[in-house]
Amino acid sequence: MTAAADKWDAKYAGDDFFYGTEPNTFLVSAAGRLATGSRILSLGEGEGRNGVYLAGLGHDVVATDQSVVGLRKAQALARRRGVTIATVAGDLASLPIDAGAWDAIVSLWCHLPGIVRRPLHRAVAAGLAPGGLLILESYHPAQIGRGRGGPSDPDLMPTLDELRHELAGLEVLHAAELEREVSEGEGHQGLSAVVQFIARRPVGVSGP
Ligand SMILES: C[S@@+](CC[C@H](N)C(=O)[O-])C[C@H]1O[C@@H](n2cnc3c(N)ncnc32)[C@H](O)[C@@H]1O
Repeated sequence: MTAAADKWDAKYAGDDFFYGTEPNTFLVSAAGRLATGSRILSLGEGEGRNGVYLAGLGHDVVATDQSVVGLRKAQALARRRGVTIATVAGDLASLPIDAGAWDAIVSLWCHLPGIVRRPLHRAVAAGLAPGGLLILESYHPAQIGRGRGGPSDPDLMPTLDELRHELAGLEVLHAAELEREVSEGEGHQGLSAVVQFIARRPVGVSGP
């Protein structure tokens, strides 16, 4: 395991859920766009609150994270809620994403260095089935020094312009840089600078 995975394992070590057990509210607001029974890949799932929520809506969820401790808690949360999710432990820097395999990919607060995020986003765009959706919310670099939550290195937080570039080829349905109140467990609290992005793989296009 990497030092970064160890750091997240330590953060998730207690019985409490660091970001709570309720789903991200932006994801909830976007979930109505998902087709019934979607195959959904969740990037940086953490302790399972978002994947478990999506499974509860009847979707088929594969949740991936580098933290085995987080994913163990995700499975425990799923059992508690009476739903099933699949979990895959590993580094997103080397995650294989089959082309056209996913009806949706979700990325909530999944902060990655640009050198990892850029190729991942290319694979995400190619990994969506025609009509498939990407739903992403992340802290914006303007978050540094405010609220509670988000990295301190701006390289880990894309701007909207960067997302548009990295995810070129997708049809953008919602794109915003804004401030909003975030209240998610101990980990994320307060008025926060965020970027939101919902995009769809065009139907009838075979390449990314
Ligand atoms: C801020 S937490 C958000 C967790 C979850 N998405 C949520 O909203 O509750 C970021 C998550 O991304 C994961 N992560 C960060 N870099 C990663 C990488 N290179 N590979 C796999 N997971 C990574 C961390 O382990 C952590 O669980």
